[in-house]
Amino acid sequence: MSLHTRVCDILGIEYPIVLAGMGGASGPELVAAVSNAGGLGVLGAAACGPKQLRAWIRRTRELTDKPFGVDTLLPASVRRAAELRAEGPTPAEQLPDLQAFARDFMVREGLAPVDPAQLRQARDPDEPATFTAEFFDAQMEVVIEERVPVYASGLGNPGPWMERLRANGTRVMAVVGAVRHAIQVKSSGLDIIVAQGHDGGGHNSPIGTMALIPQVVDAVGDTPVLGAGGIVDGRGVAAAFMLGAEGVWIGSAFLASEEANIFDFQKQAIVDATEEGTVVSRTVTGKPARIIRSKWTDYWVREDRDPLPMPYQGMVAGPVMAAANRDRRGDVNPGFAGQGIGMIRAVRPAAEIFRDLVQGAERTLETRRF
Ligand SMILES: Cc1cc2nc3c(=O)[nH]c(=O)nc-3n(C[C@H](O)[C@H](O)[C@H](O)COP(=O)(O)O)c2cc1C
Repeated sequence: MSLHTRVCDILGIEYPIVLAGMGGASGPELVAAVSNAGGLGVLGAAACGPKQLRAWIRRTRELTDKPFGVDTLLPASVRRAAELRAEGPTPAEQLPDLQAFARDFMVREGLAPVDPAQLRQARDPDEPATFTAEFFDAQMEVVIEERVPVYASGLGNPGPWMERLRANGTRVMAVVGAVRHAIQVKSSGLDIIVAQGHDGGGHNSPIGTMALIPQVVDAVGDTPVLGAGGIVDGRGVAAAFMLGAEGVWIGSAFLASEEANIFDFQKQAIVDATEEGTVVSRTVTGKPARIIRSKWTDYWVREDRDPLPMPYQGMVAGPVMAAANRDRRGDVNPGFAGQGIGMIRAVRPAAEIFRDLVQGAERTLETRRF
């Protein structure tokens, strides 16, 4: 039984198993481990400033000579939020109030503020503020200058960048959560569409994975689809194939790897969680994202407060998450993850996780008979 599909030929890889670009978590070590195992590693560069992104790309090239990708966000609504003035106070006007609300949370939880100088240090003053339209544009200039083998947009449409990406020979993918979005990105002539359902970790679709994959497959004709959301073992890979996908885009299963660029206390939170352990919440980035339920997500529900849209919510949550990370507080910042984490029992090397996905899928596709 071979897992070989068109996706392997398009991306130049052995198995159609792609490490999802997970912001911060899919760093050069994890990306190289997955590419070296025969899949495609994709850097989760969503929050990387242009300089850090360039350093990550170069470091990845030192660790592997295999193809790899870069994932960033291209959300159309960030531009609109800056342009539109809704009724009532704008997000910028609400920001001080919600920052005070976040400080109250920190006092209650005994979290001392992180030294503002340290927070400033984390951000290069010459670079645009994180998650603004200028920031996303600056990232794309690096992706193009560095001629990366594969580019994936985690939100939005890579259409405006296609010509320059194509001129470099970069293969292009886009993550979608609805059929209408799949049709929109297909019209830009990209190579592969990722259908990520509600089960998945991170920014999230309202449609379940099982229902979404076949509907996207049917809608996009001859463009290959990767299935995503809640796929953690070989049975999930085989199921995605059965639904018409020609490969998979897997995040959470690789989070509990030795190479993942998250804190050990966050890896432990994944190992400890059950299938009921996640919620969809706007409290971290301002867009709905599946996250391990925490005191921070509960606080907003209990106090009945609405988070701000992206990028403002990041300015509210950022100092809280930084303090939680400093104090190793898995109860405050356990991180994003999908509903499949109940199946994850240990932190393992990425190559071992990858091998189990391949062998499990082959075994399932060969032996399941009813
Ligand atoms: C920790 C984490 C961070 C993520 N960050 C991003 C991101 O920056 N950009 C993006 O396109 N998707 C992001 N996602 C979503 C993944 O790319 C992927 O679609 C998802 O992990 C698939 O579901 P699974 O986690 O159940 O495998 C993130 C997911 C997780 C778990």
